[in-house]
Amino acid sequence: MAGDIHLFNRTASTTVNKGSNIMVKTHLEISDVSIEFPTPSGPFKALDGVDLKIKEGEFVSLIGHSGCGKSTVLNIVAGLYQATTGGVLLDGREVNTPGPERAVVFQNHSLLPWLSAYENVELAVKQVFKGKKSKAEIKEWIEHNLSLVHMDHAMHKRPDEISGGMKQRVGIARALAMEPKVLLMDEPFGALDALTRAHLQDSLMEIQNELNNTVIMITHDVDEAVLLSDRIVMMTNGPAATVGEILDIELARPRDRIALADDSQYNHYRHEVLRFLYEKQSKVEDIDQHRPKKVEAVEEEAPQKATA
Ligand SMILES: Nc1ncnc2c1ncn2[C@@H]1O[C@H](COP(=O)(O)OP(=O)(O)OP(=O)(O)O)[C@@H](O)[C@H]1O
Ligand SMILES: [Mg+2]
Repeated sequence: MAGDIHLFNRTASTTVNKGSNIMVKTHLEISDVSIEFPTPSGPFKALDGVDLKIKEGEFVSLIGHSGCGKSTVLNIVAGLYQATTGGVLLDGREVNTPGPERAVVFQNHSLLPWLSAYENVELAVKQVFKGKKSKAEIKEWIEHNLSLVHMDHAMHKRPDEISGGMKQRVGIARALAMEPKVLLMDEPFGALDALTRAHLQDSLMEIQNELNNTVIMITHDVDEAVLLSDRIVMMTNGPAATVGEILDIELARPRDRIALADDSQYNHYRHEVLRFLYEKQSKVEDIDQHRPKKVEAVEEEAPQKATA
């Protein structure tokens, strides 16, 4: 899987057309990314030629059928997976290992169970700000980030003492507290009930508006994608998945979910995403049928990493 193609000895970033006539500097560039996973029956090509240019402060959603490769794209941007060919540039520099400037929020929050909410955030903050902030500043910063997600009242509770939505909020606070340039979110609200989800979506819009982080979020929820995004990137079905279509969401901010429910433009965007998913990419085949066949009749092993 190691990518030995060195496409990225350049440092200047390219420009993207933002939809208006203003040319905006590319902040994050996913350039011709392909990946092959070694499997017992031979290499499995999950992604092929994924290209995407994202500008600073942009909110991009990735949407596509289960197993198409969304988490794989995110993991490559996070530096957790290495592209087989192509790569990722952040502000013109190649990134292929994890770094605190690209914080990840996983669907299952991934908090350390023996630490309180405060201590979970503290761990990340110390990693980034040790030697740069005083003890008192670190404390203030942790409390500030927990209050951004309305968790200040329960910051000394451990993960098993708080609800799923609260754990997810701590995960988001932990990511935000690292002041990442890029926030990578893999179905961050997928496991939550509708009300908690709506509340967190609103908080995320407020926070992102205030901090101007660049966000890539994976979601299966069409309404969530339209409500939150500046652009929705729709991926084709795998194997060898790639970017199918990109939809610009030109709805004014701040966005109000109730008002948008009757908005014709909102419903048009919603329809476009549904059409892509259920008409253009409707054929959801068993992805395993594309895997190389084994010569011997032995049971196939599960992939090293299943879907998120
Ligand atoms: N480490 C791995 N080894 C082998 N195959 C893998 C590995 N990681 C992912 N895959 C395969 O790559 C494909 C894309 O997986 P990925 O997890 O990116 O999909 P996804 O779009 O995030 O799906 P979901 O929506 O269900 O989370 C799948 O067929 C998956 O089995
Ligand atoms: Mg996934």
